[in-house]
Amino acid sequence: MRFQTIADLDVSGKRVFVRVDFNVPLGAERRVVDDTRIRAAVPTIEELSRRGARVVLVSHLGRPKKGPSDELRLKPCAARLAELLKRPVAALDECVGPAVDAALAAMKSGDVVLLENVRFHPEEEAGDAAFAAKLRNGAELYVNDAFGTAHRAHASVTGVASLLPHEARAAGRLMEAELRALARLRADVKRPFVAVLGGAKVSDKIEVVDQLLDQVDALLIGGGMAFTFLAAQGRRIGRSLCEKEKLAVASAALAKAAARKVRLLLPVDHVAAASFEATAAPQPIDGVDLPDGVLGLDVGPKTIALFRNEIAAAKTVVWNGPLGVFEWPAFARGSKEIAEAIASTTKSGAATVVGGGDSVAVIEQFGLQGRFTHVSTGGGAFLEALEGKTLPGVAVLEIS
Ligand code: 3PG
Ligand code: MG
Repeated sequence: MRFQTIADLDVSGKRVFVRVDFNVPLGAERRVVDDTRIRAAVPTIEELSRRGARVVLVSHLGRPKKGPSDELRLKPCAARLAELLKRPVAALDECVGPAVDAALAAMKSGDVVLLENVRFHPEEEAGDAAFAAKLRNGAELYVNDAFGTAHRAHASVTGVASLLPHEARAAGRLMEAELRALARLRADVKRPFVAVLGGAKVSDKIEVVDQLLDQVDALLIGGGMAFTFLAAQGRRIGRSLCEKEKLAVASAALAKAAARKVRLLLPVDHVAAASFEATAAPQPIDGVDLPDGVLGLDVGPKTIALFRNEIAAAKTVVWNGPLGVFEWPAFARGSKEIAEAIASTTKSGAATVVGGGDSVAVIEQFGLQGRFTHVSTGGGAFLEALEGKTLPGVAVLEIS
């Protein structure tokens, strides 16, 4: 697809509406615990400000259902952004209304303002056109740098964009990087192409599995979702996670892999436990089948070796989802070693693309930042893009 970038816009002196995704985790005293998404938007904000734009930032935070709530105000994000930009960022208490109008009217070239959480208004998620017009508030240009929210057809995502002519819309630098990384996975992919999927639920990933089976040479499945596939093969999975209503789709995926000669690899050994607890004693299981009474919480060493082999030979790797319960040290080894294997293959020249909040957490936990070709800021948006869906927030940027 073709889209404009901020390089194509004449932003000097203009009011620029910039959708960012500052939906970040807040901890005690409402401090930003993980500022990855804020840092990722800095290049766009810095560049627009340097080029003399009046930068109006718009984001959601969490899923407020009953209007404004103090826990979900964006002030902490503005504070973190100001530290990163080394310049003041005004955090407004509203996203529409007379106080916002006055604050925006007082902005000078280069100023950066963050509006309050757009989801305090239910019209945002409803994609309400009248609300979008208020949000636009006279902005002459629209920039979307919120890849993480591009799968939502909300007022601040698609609504505002649609009010401006195509030549006034552009992808920010982060959106651009995300879209280019995804495009590279579709066009002229270097082979072997290996996908690694993990995480708890098959239902979250089944469409991705189906889509990836059309593209990859090997699909490596670990994490909780692997057990539904093992059960579909008639294996014994003990008390491991199993989505019974997904057994048929798991069987269909196995059959599709066989028909297309895709190597679909499942765990061949495990680290199990008698209960789902951080302190549960890890029990190595040297085989595919699990005895009754235990549940698999990580992949075992043979699986790690098997997966590492595939990853080492790959020229393209896409990874989403942890291989075990990485938050608990006794069950973290699979996720750690597979993340390290993917990082090493980047070093040998493979293109490695990672997405999803849990995979990003694995990278952070084991200090592997900067060792992948691209780490997406998208969770749901990344998965939907991999599924081959058109993201509404991206579609509005498309030019012919
Ligand atoms: C996300 O974190 O997935 C995005 O910020 C979108 O948020 P949502 O899932 O609440 O729409
Ligand atoms: Mg989400």
